[in-house]
Amino acid sequence: MKNADLTDLKGKDLVAALDFRKLPKVLLHEHLDGGLRPSTVIELARENGYTGLPTEDAGELAAWFHRGAQRGNLPEYLEGFAHTCGVMQTEEALERVAYEFMEDMKEDGVVYAEVRFAPLLHTEGGLTQDEAVRAALAGLRRGEKDFGVKWGLIICALRHLNTSLEAAELAIRWREAGVVGFDLAGGESGFPPKKHVDAFHAIQRANFHITIHAGEAFGVESIWQALQYCGAHRLGHATRLRDDMEVQSDGSLKLGSLAQYVLDRRVPLEMCLYSNLHTGACHDLAQHPFGLFFRNGFRVCLNTDDRLMSDTTMTKETILAAELFDLSLADVEKLNLNAIKSAFAPFDKRIDIIFNSIKPGYAALRGE
Ligand code: ADE
Ligand code: ZN
Repeated sequence: MKNADLTDLKGKDLVAALDFRKLPKVLLHEHLDGGLRPSTVIELARENGYTGLPTEDAGELAAWFHRGAQRGNLPEYLEGFAHTCGVMQTEEALERVAYEFMEDMKEDGVVYAEVRFAPLLHTEGGLTQDEAVRAALAGLRRGEKDFGVKWGLIICALRHLNTSLEAAELAIRWREAGVVGFDLAGGESGFPPKKHVDAFHAIQRANFHITIHAGEAFGVESIWQALQYCGAHRLGHATRLRDDMEVQSDGSLKLGSLAQYVLDRRVPLEMCLYSNLHTGACHDLAQHPFGLFFRNGFRVCLNTDDRLMSDTTMTKETILAAELFDLSLADVEKLNLNAIKSAFAPFDKRIDIIFNSIKPGYAALRGE
């Protein structure tokens, strides 16, 4: 097939014609503790005397994580993290996991990645939260040297705890070293973002960056609070924004005021297809609102969320989206431009990645 022909292909035909792994991709939403290699979980458990794993066979362990995470609700999806966090309680373990994350990104064709974690979950073995952040940053830096992938680290607060202000201050403290923003993660139902408004105000006063998991396991109210109480610059998932729009009988889309705001303000939506299926945020991928949002101009991008739990990669997410929503190569490029424009990295770095990495990468595929 001549390269120029690729521009005419869509969906399954495009997937058949192209190695999606090689497409330059941008990932904004992945959890460090949700993306370990199964073999690393086992090795770290051995090294650190962690005895809680259900098996020491890497294939069986991977299948165990996938089964556990795919029970259709967020609380059960999150149960596996007890084990991944259980083996990430030393600086060496955190550094290794962050380094391997970068190697995996290179393998997956990702040119810029933001990865997130909650340092508080890594203090059971005696580390301070600052030590946990320092170790993760060291692994990411070493990974960049070896694999050339650009990155940023996001610090998560946990929505069921009252320690979010401490997490926000931690994020701000490490901003010069590679921390690019702040997130609120964990079980959503019963834990509204506005309870953490002090933490978000601290981030805002520091002129720093906010993304919030919202509209994944709870509805429009959570998205509204994330934006209008907490000042979110991006939203994680936001699947339930679909509830604030209506497809009318003539096929046109009628938006509620929140959906209109998200569209007009270009609020980036970090969408995670497989994860949404596994947590029950969506019951049928063909009906996932990603397609509706993308076709109607919302600033959406594709993400993995938790590569281990959801048995996914950026390549798999992109193939899935291309097949389900009949995407063209230009659509895939657009999704990755949406992502890099929405990154928390400084403007100059984003411009550099757009013009020296993403645009030339897709132009070369088209034979330009
Ligand atoms: N932590 C890891 N994955 C998550 C998800 N999908 N939602 C909320 N918190 C998470
Ligand atoms: Zn997430």
